[in-house]
Amino acid sequence: MFFDLLKKRRSIRKYINKKIEKEKVDMIIKSALMSPSSRGRRPWEFVLVEDRDLLEKLSNCREHGSQFLKEAALAVVVLADPDKCDVWIEDASIASLIIQLTAHSLDLGSCWIQVRERYKNEFQKTEDYIKELLDIPPDYCVESIIAIGYPGEEKEAHDENNLSMDKVHYNKYNIKYS
Ligand SMILES: Cc1cc2nc3c(=O)[nH]c(=O)nc-3n(C[C@H](O)[C@H](O)[C@H](O)COP(=O)(O)O)c2cc1C
Repeated sequence: MFFDLLKKRRSIRKYINKKIEKEKVDMIIKSALMSPSSRGRRPWEFVLVEDRDLLEKLSNCREHGSQFLKEAALAVVVLADPDKCDVWIEDASIASLIIQLTAHSLDLGSCWIQVRERYKNEFQKTEDYIKELLDIPPDYCVESIIAIGYPGEEKEAHDENNLSMDKVHYNKYNIKYS
């Protein structure tokens, strides 16, 4: 059941040293290419990185929050052409999540690494560092990197009985849904 998949999906930042089968990589990327997008403009593009040297360099794209990428088997760099769609951020975010959910459905672990609005250091934007490293054309924007690999850690599933139901309102804001 899809609900069970959502309960069990957690951000996985430790991976075992195992290559991801090509069939699984193909399925992940085909899923991303089927993502819904505003007006069907599909402004996203994806760079699949498996090269160990590049993965290590990509893992340094932020001072914190990206180092675990060094041990991942695959990075999917999610970029978009802002000229193709004004809401490219939403489109690229949806594709990023679809990649994560598909990876999880294939017994892989994944974690989102935020790129947009982040800095490698006080002098360089994370996005500029990645674009230079991967030869991404200047007009494109980078939303995220999704790190993927066979899980090297186990995490507790989300508890459906302990969700923030107080965030849910019914008909009007001041009426709680129960
Ligand atoms: C937009 C977004 C940006 C995120 N950026 C990072 C990041 O840069 N580094 C990281 O380790 N995790 C990142 N995460 C993962 C979150 O930390 C994680 O989803 C959150 O703590 C909830 O945990 P869970 O995914 O295991 O349910 C990001 C998640 C989202 C949705």
